[in-house]
Amino acid sequence: MPASLVVWILTALLIVGVLTQKWWEPRLEARGVPVRRWPWRWWLVGYPGTALRIVTTWRRLAYLNGLSVSMSPNRRVIGRDLVVQGQALKPKPPRLSWPVPTATGLTLRVLLHPGQTPAPFYAAARAMEHTWRVHSVRVTSPRRGQVVIEVTARDPLADDAPSVRAPAHVLMSADVGVFEDGGPWQIDLRRTPHWLITGATQSGKSSLLAALVLALAPQRVALVGIDCKGGMELGLFGGRLSALATDRTQALGVLSGVVDEIQARMRWCRSWGKRSIWELREEQRPVPLVVIVDELAELYLTDGSRESRDEAEQCGTLLLRIAQLGAALGVHLVLAGQRVGSDLGPRVTALRAQLGGRVAHRAHDAASAEMTLGDLDPDAVVTAQNITEDEQGVAVVAMGGRWMRARSRLVNTDDAAEIGRSDPPQDPFLTQPDPVTFEKEGAVA
Ligand SMILES: Nc1ncnc2c1ncn2[C@@H]1O[C@H](COP(=O)(O)OP(=O)(O)OP(=O)(O)O)[C@@H](O)[C@H]1O
Ligand SMILES: [Mg+2]
Repeated sequence: MPASLVVWILTALLIVGVLTQKWWEPRLEARGVPVRRWPWRWWLVGYPGTALRIVTTWRRLAYLNGLSVSMSPNRRVIGRDLVVQGQALKPKPPRLSWPVPTATGLTLRVLLHPGQTPAPFYAAARAMEHTWRVHSVRVTSPRRGQVVIEVTARDPLADDAPSVRAPAHVLMSADVGVFEDGGPWQIDLRRTPHWLITGATQSGKSSLLAALVLALAPQRVALVGIDCKGGMELGLFGGRLSALATDRTQALGVLSGVVDEIQARMRWCRSWGKRSIWELREEQRPVPLVVIVDELAELYLTDGSRESRDEAEQCGTLLLRIAQLGAALGVHLVLAGQRVGSDLGPRVTALRAQLGGRVAHRAHDAASAEMTLGDLDPDAVVTAQNITEDEQGVAVVAMGGRWMRARSRLVNTDDAAEIGRSDPPQDPFLTQPDPVTFEKEGAVA
C-alpha cells in the first residue's frame, strides 16, 4: 500500500473523529472511559513533532556527547613503528527504540553497544532536553545493557494547583498532591515513617501540612500539632487535633508526653509478644499518632539564657528519641522549617538522618536545598534550586532512594475550618490522662 494512501486514510479518520466527537465522547465517558482527561493535544500535535525531532537528531546528539562508538579499531599503524590513536570519523550511535507516547511525554529505550555503560547517557540528559526542546529528560538503567529515557514534554506542575480530592482511606496514607508524571503524590507513613519539609518563606510548607492534615483527618489517626508561630497555621485544625502546642514550653510538655506514650506502647507490645503495633490485632492496636511541627527552628531558638538553652536542648533530644523509637510504635514525625542545618542546635543532623522522607520547596540558597536533599541525591539539589518564586507549592520529593518533582494540593480556609469542626479519635493515648493532659486550646498540664 503506498504511503500516501495511509496518510489519506488516517487524515480521513481524524476528520470523522473530530466531526463526530459530540456523539462518541459522552457515550465513552458514560462507560467509564475518561476520554476528556486524555491528552489529545499532546498525542495529535506535540508527540509527532517531538518524536520526529528525536529520530532526526539522535545520530548527531549521540556523536557530540560521546554516546556513539566506533566499530573499527581506534588505532592505526602509519609507519614502521608509529601508531596513531583517535576517534573514527563515522562512529555508530546506539540503537534507539521508537518513542512510545505517555500522558505527559514519551519513553525511549536505548540498546547499549558492548563495552558501553549508562554513565555518559546520564550526563547527556541536559543536552537531550535542549536538543529535543522538552521540559525534562530522565535517564535510568533498569536492565543491564539498556538505558531508558523518560521525556516530559512540558511542565505538568506549571498549571494551577491541583484541586483537593476526596481523601484516600488507606490507613496512614495521604494523597497530598501530584507528581510531575501525573501520578498521585502519596505520603505513606507506614512505608516512610518520618518526613522533613523545607523551603524558603512563602514556598508552600504550611500548605503542604494542611493538605496532609486534610487527607489524614477522616482516618482513625491522632494528630498532634506544634506550631510556634502562635498556632496561626495548625490552629485552623484545632478541633481535629488531639493536642496543640503554640509555644516552646507547651511543645516540651507535648513532646515529653509523646515520648512517655512511646514507652507505654513499647510495654504494651512486649506484653503481647509483638515487635510493632502493626503486628497486633486491630482491637489491641493503639491509635497511630502523627506529630506535626511547623517552624521547626523555633524549637531550637535561644536568647542566650541558660533556661532557653536547656529548653532547646531538651526539645532536640525529645524529637530525636521520637524519630528513633516511634516508627514501629505508630508514632510519626512530620517536621517543617526553613533550614535544618547543624547551626540550629545540637542533634539536628542526627534528627535529619532519621527523617527518610524529604520535601524541598524553593530554597534561598544552595546550602539549604543541600541540607534537605544533599545526602540523598546531588541531582535533586540542582532541581530544587531551579524552583522559581512563582512555583509556590512545587517541591522536590525524595523517598526510598528515588526523587521527583511534585506539587501539593491547595487547601482553602473553608476546608480547613470544616476539618477543625470534626472530632479527633477517642482515647488515642495509652498514657492518657497521665502524665500529660492534652487539651484543645494548647494548654498542656
Ligand atoms: N500547591 C500550591 N499551589 C499554589 N499556590 C500555593 C501552593 N501552596 C502554597 N501556595 C501559595 O503560597 C503561599 C504561601 O504558602 P505557605 O504559607 O504554605 O508558605 P510557607 O512556606 O509556610 O511560608 P512561611 O515560611 O512564611 O510560613 C500561600 O498563600 C498560597 O497562596
Ligand atoms: Mg508556614
